[in-house]
Parts: sequence; C-alpha cells; structure tokens
Amino acid sequence: MSSNHLMYEKLSKLYEGVWYPMFQKSFKKVCGHINANNPKSVLEVGIGPGSTLKFYDPTIKLTGVDVSKQMIEIAQKKVEKKNLKNVTLLATEPDNYPFEKNSFDIAVTFSVVTVVPEPIKFVKSIVSMIKPGGFLYIVGHFQKSDTHELLKTIDELFDPVTKKLMGFTLKLKEEDLREIKNIELVDKFTATDMLNFPFNTCLVFKVK
Ligand SMILES: C[S@@+](CC[C@H](N)C(=O)[O-])C[C@H]1O[C@@H](n2cnc3c(N)ncnc32)[C@H](O)[C@@H]1O
Repeated sequence: MSSNHLMYEKLSKLYEGVWYPMFQKSFKKVCGHINANNPKSVLEVGIGPGSTLKFYDPTIKLTGVDVSKQMIEIAQKKVEKKNLKNVTLLATEPDNYPFEKNSFDIAVTFSVVTVVPEPIKFVKSIVSMIKPGGFLYIVGHFQKSDTHELLKTIDELFDPVTKKLMGFTLKLKEEDLREIKNIELVDKFTATDMLNFPFNTCLVFKVK
C-alpha cells in the first residue's frame, strides 16, 4: 500500500468534517450532471466515506470502491442507515478492480486522480470498465499549459503542503489526461470555486 493510501486509512474519521463542507457543492453539481444522463449503472472510484451517496438518483445501480477499508466501513454505515438498496460498496486493490470490461454506463472519481502515484494508469484502468459510448467524469485540480503564471506559482508554493497534509498534488496536467486513447473530452465545468477561483474542475470524457 502506498503512503497516500495509509494516509487515508488514518484520516478517514476526521476526513469528512474537513472535506465535506469544502466540496459538497461539487458533489451535488457533478452527481446532478450524472443523473441527467439517466444511467442504469454508475461506478464511483475512491468513494471515500460516501459523501456523494445522497446526491445520486436512487434508481441508479451504484457501485462504490475504495482502497481504504476504513473509508468503505464509514460509507457502508450510511448505506445501511439510509437503507440504500441500490448501492454496493467494496474495498479493492488500487487500479485492479474486480469488474468485467464494459460493465458501467458511467464512472466518476472525485479528487482521487490527484492522489494516486500513477494517474494515467489509474484512469486507463477505469476506462476499461466503462461501456463504449459511456462517460467518465474526473473531478480534480488540474494545471493547463495556459494556466496563468500567478496561479501556477501559487500551485508550486502550496503543492508540498497539500501533498504533506492531504496527499494530493496541485500540479497534475489536464493535457496529460487528454492524451489517453479511447476517450474524448466532451465537456468541462468548474466543480468547486474557492474565493471565486475555480479550484476543482470536472472533465467529462466520452468512451469511444
Ligand atoms: C482525497 S480522497 C477523496 C474521497 C472522496 N472521493 C471525496 O471526494 O470525498 C481520496 C480517496 O481515494 C482513495 N484512493 C486512493 N487511491 C485509490 C485507488 N487507486 N483506487 C481507489 N481508491 C483510491 C483513498 O482511500 C481516499 O478515500
């Protein structure tokens, strides 16, 4: 297990109180987009403590995976408390998920691509589980080659801090994800604003 995974095992109990208030609007917004596609099946990779559960349409067959058993246990309690019969949760190995190819209409991942050691491998492993014609939603903080120099400098300054405290990088490039074969960027919107700056972006890819 990588040091980041261990960090999330340790942070799982604290995590929700800190993270949820910052990102709840983005969970609602992105899940709203997903619901509007009327998918039958959705996979959420790195579901953490299940903060998104309440935002999905209950008619969707939702599968949530995470490498942290503690996170899955917290999410599972919510599933039981709310009696969400449409939800299945699993603790898995990183980048090796126990599903057939082409199993899901949509896959989504919130703030995970920036914490994994090999983001391209991570995304490719998810793409293989989505049906052709389906969609992949990736939410994260990305740099672009045309990101304003001031914002790049802020990212440079804070990257060691976010890496140390929360395990995520501020320096992942959107262009690197767009190089992945079999997927095409079809939409993009701001998922989270901070002090009026777009902090987290949702990239929507169609699977060819
Ligand atoms: C920054 S947290 C985000 C959690 C949740 N998506 C949210 O936004 O509240 C990252 C989560 O991804 C999980 N994770 C890290 N690497 C993973 C991987 N390769 N596959 C699945 N989950 C992973 C961690 O255990 C942690 O729960």
